[in-house]
Amino acid sequence: MTAQLLTSISTEIDLAKLPQHVAVIMDGNGRWAKQRGLPRIEGHRRGAKTLKEMLRYCKDLGIKTLTAYAFSTENWSRPTGEVNFLMSLFEGLLRKELKEMEEEEVCINFIGDISPLPQSLQQEMRHSTERTKDNQGVFFNVAINYGSRNEMVKACSAIAQKVQRGELSADAIDENTIAQHLYTSASGDPDLLIRTSGEMRLSNFLLWQLAYTEIYVTDTLWPDFDTRQFDLALQSFQQRDRRFGRVK
Ligand code: FPP
Repeated sequence: MTAQLLTSISTEIDLAKLPQHVAVIMDGNGRWAKQRGLPRIEGHRRGAKTLKEMLRYCKDLGIKTLTAYAFSTENWSRPTGEVNFLMSLFEGLLRKELKEMEEEEVCINFIGDISPLPQSLQQEMRHSTERTKDNQGVFFNVAINYGSRNEMVKACSAIAQKVQRGELSADAIDENTIAQHLYTSASGDPDLLIRTSGEMRLSNFLLWQLAYTEIYVTDTLWPDFDTRQFDLALQSFQQRDRRFGRVK
């Protein structure tokens, strides 16, 4: 914990009022690469580096959970070469970074439907989850083949089956029942959502979980998002009056 934390203090961040859970839509990798005359995949490579820096920064600050949108159910319609690159990037990173994640007390989890992913990637995902499951330093959720509507359909179907089998009464279904059947059942709702590259959309990300989340959109492209940018997002979060629908 070093200069990075000092940066925060100097930009007047109240370390006692940090979000506990931050979610990120890492947008703009392709544009970042295009601006530099590079192939789109270079943007993703650089974006992965940014994500690693953000995870470390969250841990240093004491932000408990970081949830990152790495690949959506809609991203399959990208050019095959880009999809294949992303799959092998995820797999390579998990293999390369596992030791460091263990040392840094990262607990990694995946949200989304992993069944259509390459077998070797699925294996790496299961392996890294298993190896880091007892870590408590920082909780890192990675959304891969994630779509919020699909997640809700799956939850409804699982709940309906329980009702059909007589394990649950239809009258007993409440918000908690739904939340417990989502991929995120263990991690709770984000306090802050950051979206880079200026797009004002949720893009099928955590639609249920973001109900009362503060949203911060920056024009900065994801590969350029650094600790200083993160500080600005945290500052903005700390200026918000979170009422959760109540009157103060
Ligand atoms: C969106 O930018 C970015 C993605 C679809 C991929 C994000 C993935 C990473 C940053 C790698 C993360 C690695 C792990 C292991 C989690 P875009 O391509 O839509 O950018 P554009 O809008 O400028 O085209």
